[in-house]
Amino acid sequence: MGRNHPPLPARRDRPRCAPWPLRARLGSEAIRVLAQRLFDQGHHRITIDPAAANHRAIHVYEKLGFRRVGILRDYEQGPDGTWHDGLLMDLLKGELKSELK
Ligand SMILES: CC(C)(COP(=O)(O)OP(=O)(O)OC[C@H]1O[C@@H](n2cnc3c(N)ncnc32)[C@H](O)[C@@H]1OP(=O)(O)O)[C@@H](O)C(=O)NCCC(=O)NCCS
Repeated sequence: MGRNHPPLPARRDRPRCAPWPLRARLGSEAIRVLAQRLFDQGHHRITIDPAAANHRAIHVYEKLGFRRVGILRDYEQGPDGTWHDGLLMDLLKGELKSELK
């Protein structure tokens, strides 16, 4: 498949930043599109369960309209065997924010 592509330059010569604008909000937009598609297909409620310490993901979900339902105590186990809380969040049809600020 990649045979016709020129080889990548040596690592030290590659660009050090992403070729798209910073703060492109790709993840937010991808989740917004997915949520809209699920609502368009007839779903009326979406739940999501990020790690309680995943502040970036929680910020993105709240920005899209998700609300905090509650803490899921000792919800997932890390590779070192320790347990971590999760955060249950939900979004009802009509609550999805279409304009991302
Ligand atoms: C969660 C995820 C989908 C978000 O996508 P993304 O492209 O990183 O997010 P965006 O660039 O659209 O937006 C990031 C937002 O978080 C904010 N943010 C960044 N780090 C943050 C932090 N530590 N705490 C709070 N907010 C933070 C940014 O300021 C930005 O908010 P703004 O648009 O209001 O300025 C992506 O980061 C991801 O895949 N992470 C790894 C896997 C994961 O955590 N999945 C979630 C499992 S439930």
